Amino acid sequence: MALFSKSKNDKAWQAGNSLPKHVAIIMDGNGRWAKKRGLPRTAGHSAGAETFRKIATYCKDLGMDYLTVYAFSTENWKRPQEEVDAIMQLLEKYLLESIEKMERDGIRLKILGDTEPLSDKLKALIERTDKISSEINGFQANICLNYGGRDEIIKAARKYAQQVAEGRANDIDEKEFSSYMYSDGIPDPDLIIRPSGEIRTSNFLLWQSAYSEYYFTDVLWPDFDEAELDKALDAYSKRSRRYGGV
Ligand code: FPP
Repeated sequence: MALFSKSKNDKAWQAGNSLPKHVAIIMDGNGRWAKKRGLPRTAGHSAGAETFRKIATYCKDLGMDYLTVYAFSTENWKRPQEEVDAIMQLLEKYLLESIEKMERDGIRLKILGDTEPLSDKLKALIERTDKISSEINGFQANICLNYGGRDEIIKAARKYAQQVAEGRANDIDEKEFSSYMYSDGIPDPDLIIRPSGEIRTSNFLLWQSAYSEYYFTDVLWPDFDEAELDKALDAYSKRSRRYGGV
């Protein structure tokens, strides 16, 4: 019956101005998803990488500007070597496949984090995706890799210290300090989503999330799909963002 059908108009955030420009996601729950199926944790990460692909395409099609995902934190090196290697291989595979398609699809890719300890192969792939991204316009997917919010702030503080040494301590405002972050030039996320039932930020975008809206869901990341993103966007569209005002 038409009365109960889910028409496009139900997506108020699509018709109005409430579609966030920048959504960030903590891709959590891959391990539990795999365990539930009697599979190795790495199978959960493979499924999670596919979900990322699907959600990035959906965000682009909806007309968002940025999607940022947390793929590997500065703390994730503590995981078993086999799991770390599997995640790095998935990232290599993803970047390699993307290089061929980025131009065609108009998707820019940026890695946010400390790339220094990464393999030479990954570093070379990042360099290539950076180059292609600088030549195209459009939707940008940011992948946080060896990323930690505190690590990022410490690195920014070191840049600040250099400015202090040059006598500029009082000149540095929030805008300039923001430019010391990996996310230089990227607007702060409007909405941060964490699936899998965990209700914490886990060192993700500490500086950038000052006024972000949060959305938590019990769905595990590999099961997250377009309909789940719709639910998050729907919740976001009902929030009133006041940025400390009234
Ligand atoms: C957290 O789930 C997930 C990670 C630490 C890895 C995320 C990596 C990917 C999805 C693959 C590579 C990404 C791209 C963009 C190609 P968890 O393992 O902590 O899950 P659990 O809490 O259920 O154990």
